[in-house]
Amino acid sequence: MCGIVGYIGFKDAKEILLNGLEKLEYRGYDSAGIAIRNEKDVHVFKEKGRIADLRKIVDTHINAATGIGHTRWATHGVPSTENAHPHQSLSGRFTLVHNGVIENYEQLKKEYLLDVPLKSDTDTEVIVQLIEIFVNEGLDTEAAFRKTLHLLKGSYALGLLDKEKAETIFVAKNKSPLLIGLGNGFNVIASDAMAMIQVTDQFVELMDKEMVIVTKEKVTIKSLNDEEIERAPYTAELDAGDIEKGTYPHYMLKEIDEQPLVMRKIIQAYQNDQGKLTVDENIVQALQEADRLYIVACGTSYHAGLVGKQYLETIAKIPTEVHVASEFVYNMPLLSEKPLFVFISQSGETADSRAVLVKVKELGYQALTITNVQGSTLSREADYTLLLHAGPEIAVASTKAYTAQISVLSILANATAETRGIKPEFDLIHELGIVANAMEVLCDTKDEFEQIARDYLSTTRNCFFIGRSIDYYVGLEGALKLKEISYIQAEGFAGGELKHGTIALIEEGTPVIALATQENVNLSIRGNVKEVTARGANPCIISMKGLESEDDRFVIPAVHELFTPLVAVIPTQLIAYYAALHRDCDVDKPRNLAKSVTVE
Ligand code: M6R
Repeated sequence: MCGIVGYIGFKDAKEILLNGLEKLEYRGYDSAGIAIRNEKDVHVFKEKGRIADLRKIVDTHINAATGIGHTRWATHGVPSTENAHPHQSLSGRFTLVHNGVIENYEQLKKEYLLDVPLKSDTDTEVIVQLIEIFVNEGLDTEAAFRKTLHLLKGSYALGLLDKEKAETIFVAKNKSPLLIGLGNGFNVIASDAMAMIQVTDQFVELMDKEMVIVTKEKVTIKSLNDEEIERAPYTAELDAGDIEKGTYPHYMLKEIDEQPLVMRKIIQAYQNDQGKLTVDENIVQALQEADRLYIVACGTSYHAGLVGKQYLETIAKIPTEVHVASEFVYNMPLLSEKPLFVFISQSGETADSRAVLVKVKELGYQALTITNVQGSTLSREADYTLLLHAGPEIAVASTKAYTAQISVLSILANATAETRGIKPEFDLIHELGIVANAMEVLCDTKDEFEQIARDYLSTTRNCFFIGRSIDYYVGLEGALKLKEISYIQAEGFAGGELKHGTIALIEEGTPVIALATQENVNLSIRGNVKEVTARGANPCIISMKGLESEDDRFVIPAVHELFTPLVAVIPTQLIAYYAALHRDCDVDKPRNLAKSVTVE
């Protein structure tokens, strides 16, 4: 949440910063700002709204080769120009951007800033005022910055400009992501390599509680105890084309369409020279040794985890529990003797999941992270990582990461089963290949889903998704997608659970999207549809070839019954997309949300 960028070099900083912020807008988009420094002064431009709004107010006549920028997802203080970053110290000497949350900012205010009139409601302003106070007491900027960092509790990625030290950006990181990008005669900072891939592909990772002195020629990483740290850069394998929309109107639609390709890339990535799907033997060994798996995740990743549990139990025969990360950390279940934790996270940065990872590492347990982002916090801090190979997912609504997560979980379950001597009843490569083809068919049938969105969701206030067994999990995901981007109140329910209360909400015309892809529950879910129809609901049954009946609105191509979530989810993604479009919603950047949720 929130994205920061910085540039120090020889080119016009404002364009590089604004372009970078556009790439980070997925991290928050309620206000934005930049500060640029030329030989005369530091110039700050901030605006409520999107980067496009900020662009309009930036003075194009000012040329400066140093600057920092920020796109915000409000935590402390409403979205407004005053609360937008950068924030400045009382005298205007120091200018700061911040991603994260300072938990003890009220206390610091009381202790140090009673005489300082604050201009915003943010926790961030406290940091920049403290730095100035310590400089006024006689410390140099670096020492004042370090002293301030020692006082902060919480998460931060910081970029600081000092008007009197034009040749430096001071940087620090704790718990929030931050990278330093290296160039020839320039250096940059960014919350995500994506923001600066247009100017460099060489990046240096920062660890928690590190600070960095960045000039255009040099990057000096230090611990908070002032010890220098050497760290080699890595090459970011990111194609600039991967982060463009191309001819698509929205990233979400592009990412939905990419799913068959991602499926094939995953098969390739996990295939060995003999053409078999394999997983790093250390990971399989860790699963073998565990007596129970604990999947921990949030949102869509949690829904993928529910399907993953099915695979790990059915295919690999390992007892598995799935937990919502934000609950787990404060309400831990009684753990088994040899647990293995599996974190599922597209971004690898989700604070709720990270809080659990930190806790289980303290307890001495092993952890595996399944993520789309190599080098992300959850990946670095876990013992093992499996990558999704889905390419950057930019739309806030997760689509291709969900199907990639499920696919990787199926490969993990399959590889573990084989090592345990359990012969899977199917050839996974073959089954996933069928899935990829079915996905393609669905992506080519967009008109049908646009029509369903028109027929059922144009004016409705609410909508229910029902399913049984594994279809229930897909219903949960379908409902999340719909509510997230169209703001229709949508809920997913187990078909059999409706009569225990929820059926009271069914009124004349209430849309009920029923998923029917499982043979063993086909009759019962259809029974549930009859129950709601008898009470006035407007049912939309999405079934699978071989199980269809004449009332069905759409029939998806047949795939193995374990892998139906990979295909059944696509109609729900497209229906949500078109419903949001018809209702004039901002599909890629829904209100109140951000892609990477880095606050607890
Ligand atoms: O990056 P993560 O997978 O850890 O993110 C978890 C959730 O915040 C995320 O899946 C969220 O629910 C999506 N926006 C849903 O589309």
